[in-house]
Amino acid sequence: MNQLMNQMMGHASVRDYTDRMIERALLLDIIRCGQAASSSNFVQACSVIRVSDKANRQRIAEAAGQQRWVNEAAEFLVLCADLKRIEYCCEKTGLEFPVGYTEHFMVATIDAALMGQNMLLAAESAGLGGVFIGGIRNNPQVVADCLSLPDQVYPVFGLCLGWPARKQAVKPRLAVEAILHEETYQNESMAADIEHYDELMSRYYAQRQTSVRDSNWSQQTAAAVHGKRREHMLKFLQQRGLVKQ
Ligand SMILES: Cc1cc2nc3c(=O)[nH]c(=O)nc-3n(C[C@H](O)[C@H](O)[C@H](O)COP(=O)(O)O)c2cc1C
Repeated sequence: MNQLMNQMMGHASVRDYTDRMIERALLLDIIRCGQAASSSNFVQACSVIRVSDKANRQRIAEAAGQQRWVNEAAEFLVLCADLKRIEYCCEKTGLEFPVGYTEHFMVATIDAALMGQNMLLAAESAGLGGVFIGGIRNNPQVVADCLSLPDQVYPVFGLCLGWPARKQAVKPRLAVEAILHEETYQNESMAADIEHYDELMSRYYAQRQTSVRDSNWSQQTAAAVHGKRREHMLKFLQQRGLVKQ
């Protein structure tokens, strides 16, 4: 693997930071790297809100389920799926803006995700660490209010960035053979693949430095979808005009 690939394989979310700030020029470069990501039809349907105000950070940290790293990170950025500029482009060119199309909602969400991942990789290449904060969707209205988000814009996830005080071990992923299908979807080996991975992950959870737990991947995954249904999301997105009523 080349240097970039090795860096990608060494990724681990970082939630503990030193007090050192991130120079503005570096932050802007990281965001530019985010913008360099591909964008469906080049609509660039993503905006980044930098949250420096301590009270707002605190409100968002609470809204995300008391995630202390939102308060502690040198930078906290909220990546928003943003159809507002596209709405304006339609107005400017005299075309009707098609409100509430699932496809456009997906385009904007995917743009935000690609941009976020590019930003985290760029940050990691500079020696920074970070973690995405999907927890902001626990209370998206609180976040939208804190950030004065207009309609056609919603917060997809946050991104904490800072200089790492401590790094976790890299989490082993599913075997590539378990997720790569040749020609058509095959699930004959799914049970065996997951069994094998559960054993690997239960050893990882038992041996890691922090949050040691007696669990495996399928238990964690099932619990994750049970605990985070976020049933308010459909109504929230409808109210913002991002999906149809
Ligand atoms: C969209 C998204 C949202 C996430 N939300 C949170 C979050 O709210 N809080 C958190 O501590 N980690 C969050 N994470 C980090 C994941 O827990 C982490 O990526 C995963 O456990 C794999 O660990 P790794 O990134 O260290 O490899 C999120 C990751 C993604 C991609």
